[in-house]
Amino acid sequence: MTHRIAVIPGDGIGNEVMPEGLRVLEAVAKRFDIDLAFEHFDFACCDYYAKHGKMMPDDWFEQLKDFDAIFYGAVGWPDTVPDHISLWGSLLQFRRQFDQYINLRPCKLLPGIKSPLADRKPGDIDFYVVRENTEGEYSSVGGKMFEGTEREVVIQETVMTRHGTDRVLKFAFELAQSRPRKKLTSATKSNGIAITMPWWDERVVAMSGNYPEVSVDKFHIDILTANFVMHPDWFDVVVASNLFGDILSDLGPACTGTIGVAPSANINPEGTFPSLFEPVHGSAPDIAGKGIANPIGQIWSGAMMLEHLGHKEAADAIVTAFEAVLAEADPAVLTPDVRGQGSTETLGRAIAERVAS
Ligand code: NAD
Ligand code: IPM
Ligand code: MN
Repeated sequence: MTHRIAVIPGDGIGNEVMPEGLRVLEAVAKRFDIDLAFEHFDFACCDYYAKHGKMMPDDWFEQLKDFDAIFYGAVGWPDTVPDHISLWGSLLQFRRQFDQYINLRPCKLLPGIKSPLADRKPGDIDFYVVRENTEGEYSSVGGKMFEGTEREVVIQETVMTRHGTDRVLKFAFELAQSRPRKKLTSATKSNGIAITMPWWDERVVAMSGNYPEVSVDKFHIDILTANFVMHPDWFDVVVASNLFGDILSDLGPACTGTIGVAPSANINPEGTFPSLFEPVHGSAPDIAGKGIANPIGQIWSGAMMLEHLGHKEAADAIVTAFEAVLAEADPAVLTPDVRGQGSTETLGRAIAERVAS
């Protein structure tokens, strides 16, 4: 069976890490005899937008909906296109229209990488952020009044539905139940945000009734961020609303030494639509063009994609390969964010070679 994959490298370092992601996928596909067919799309600020004044063609949904998955780099080039235009014109449309309501973001201290937190070693940081991905604070409900005057008012509502909340909680509880520690932490702010968040807490309690083996705790988001830094070993599965999950999924990987290694899976669990796999990081204009971006976030996202497509063994082989390359800690191979002097390509090639062997 052929898996049809839509490839969208995007902007900036998206174009640099994507070739390494593909290199590793091709190597693993050869070893495990998996048939992957890639089709490239130029939906990016510096590409399609520059030519057409919009991020994607009007029929993008039709063009992409029958792919088995979308492999995505990063979009955004704020010097030429405002971020809310580029992201609402692409990535956030995919998440919504393809109902990718789970954003699964592993956070793991990898061998050979030094955590900025004192005395942390692999094993101390190993958890998942499960981020609600289609509603919450990222809503389109709101507006402006009295624009340009002293009386100007801007409103953006948070929208939480029972259907939308329960389905992400269910996913998070199932994940926690499948893990040895069986622990779920809920990110809340029910002390200050006094309508939506107490209700979120109630939904967590209601869902926990179905999972008696899972131990549940909750923290307000302010102290939760502090606890990520002070006690990352406390966490196993952390479930959060869209915005809280966004923040936690940069902070968590930062505690593991670099956000450059962090992957994500934007999942439509029912398989009605393609799921999308992308690194957590963005287009990094500050380092774009230098060839020094860490490709592991992209490569690991490729592993998550293979697992989603039913190839767990091949996915595991990719993780084993990048862990082995990191553990070797050859400075000529590693990228500067993990204290190397190598390049995106040297690291990508080393991982691909390891996968192939
Ligand atoms: P960013 O993630 O692009 O960069 C933040 C910092 O991390 C920068 O210093 C960057 O150099 C570093 N960094 C990121 N990825 C790295 C890697 N692989 N290796 C080494 N260092 C890495 O976040 P930002 O600067 O806030 O955003 C830049 C642009 O990307 C904006 O347009 C933003 O909207 C967009 N963005 C897109 C996505 C996405 O497409 N999923 C995600 C986040 C940000
Ligand atoms: C992410 C990104 C996006 C988000 C941006 C680029 C809209 O930060 O995938 O984490 O906020 O979800
Ligand atoms: Mn983010």
